[in-house]
Amino acid sequence: MMKVVDSISRMSTLVKMLKKEGKSVGLVPTMGYLHEGHLSLVRTAKKHTDVAVISIFVNPAQFGPGEDFDKYPRDFKRDEELARSAGADILFYPSVKDMYPKGYSTYVNVEALTDTLCGVSRPGHFRGVTTVVAKLFGIVKPDVAYFGQKDAQQAIVIKKMAEDLNMGIEVKALPTVREQDGLAMSSRNVYLSNGERQDAMSLSQALARAEALVKQGERDPGKLIKAMEEIIQKKPSARIDYVSIVDTTGLKPMDKITGEILVALAVFIGKTRLIDNVIIKVDSKDDKSKFAKKGAQ
Ligand code: PAF
Repeated sequence: MMKVVDSISRMSTLVKMLKKEGKSVGLVPTMGYLHEGHLSLVRTAKKHTDVAVISIFVNPAQFGPGEDFDKYPRDFKRDEELARSAGADILFYPSVKDMYPKGYSTYVNVEALTDTLCGVSRPGHFRGVTTVVAKLFGIVKPDVAYFGQKDAQQAIVIKKMAEDLNMGIEVKALPTVREQDGLAMSSRNVYLSNGERQDAMSLSQALARAEALVKQGERDPGKLIKAMEEIIQKKPSARIDYVSIVDTTGLKPMDKITGEILVALAVFIGKTRLIDNVIIKVDSKDDKSKFAKKGAQ
């Protein structure tokens, strides 16, 4: 039976009990409006840890002014059913007041890694993410925490935070779950009209093109970026925020495609900002046959 826990103090008491019993805890932090991407993380947590906790909290601290905090899709009953069906043991559902009481004043900021990619057009976003995730880690005290690879920068930033702050938590990023036509699953996909939904396919199509070009031997990041931009720019509702090729540790732009690269993009489809990425591994000896795609970290 899945327990729904809606206060921090009750969650802390429960965690204390579980730890006393020697149980390992897996945490899947989410903002709800669950889809198969989230559920696959819950299933993995369930498989590898004794107790699978999913948290649902639409975190005001990670939305900028004018972003979609108010209209972010919410449906607790639906989420409760889905979490239960995926095998979650505990659904943690704290309120904003409980998480950020009056006078709240502590924030966690990972430097450098957050100055690039999504950090440029969403200033303060990652500070909100790392703050809430640090709080969730402090409350749930997981052994392992699971995130989606779709938010590649987020996963890298959270890994760095856990490492730098000696949190003793294993942070795992698991493969992006996609719709049949390639669109990466996201709670924000519900914002798309039918026409926009068609245009949104250009994100994964552009990434597939980049992969194909690397496989054919292309090693110039500029050429890859141009080829991707051309695919996206053909779509009437698309406006590119960024298309970037960076290394997977420092998230720094690359002069030449070599080693492990993160090809990441953010595109406005109408008013909806979507992101997607792929990690490609290229043998440093430039041997085409050694091309390998990396699905998970
Ligand atoms: O990826 C998300 O849904 C959120 O950024 C997270 C990690 C749950 C923090 O609010």
